[in-house]
Amino acid sequence: MEIEYKPYTEESQLTDIMRMIDAELSEPYSIFTYRYFLYAWPHLSILTYKENELIGVIVCKAEEHKKVMRGYIAMLAVKQEYRRQGIGKELVAKAIQKMKDDGVEEVTLEAESTNSAALRLYEGFGFVRDKRLQAYYLNGNDAFRLKLWLK
Ligand SMILES: CC(C)(COP(=O)(O)OP(=O)(O)OC[C@H]1O[C@@H](n2cnc3c(N)ncnc32)[C@H](O)[C@@H]1OP(=O)(O)O)[C@@H](O)C(=O)NCCC(=O)NCCS
Repeated sequence: MEIEYKPYTEESQLTDIMRMIDAELSEPYSIFTYRYFLYAWPHLSILTYKENELIGVIVCKAEEHKKVMRGYIAMLAVKQEYRRQGIGKELVAKAIQKMKDDGVEEVTLEAESTNSAALRLYEGFGFVRDKRLQAYYLNGNDAFRLKLWLK
């Protein structure tokens, strides 16, 4: 069966998203963090399904910051067994397109300085390392703030 990409539409998807992200990301997030993003910008969260199984997700927002429409990628994860098949790339491409449709001029995110898979993926889109954030994560790792200009 085909892989499908769908926007977030209902609360029933939240449990699956939380379970998947908890398993795939090092940083724990509370249900309030998920609700913050999913309720306010449901169209900027995209889910990947294979035969009704959630196998990938991206969670984003877009809002004005210092008179500039800024997009932010909060979470991105693809289930281990489905990685290296282009799903992460497709989720990022779709999210960036939706942000552009919303008038977003720049996109930011943080990635662990040790996360070479994510850094390569994002740098492939033209994201650059804007800042290094010391001990940003609970595990003590630094983050890079990545930035992409869309104009
Ligand atoms: C990062 C992640 C989402 C990538 O998803 P994916 O579906 O495997 O990514 P893709 O197959 O679309 O890969 C796109 C590009 O990213 C880079 N990349 C992905 N995985 C990589 C790896 N393990 N090592 C090096 N580069 C990698 C490559 O440049 C790749 O292009 P290529 O396959 O043509 O070489 C996935 O590894 C993941 O879920 N990791 C755990 C969660 C996480 O780290 N999220 C990011 C938080 S900022």
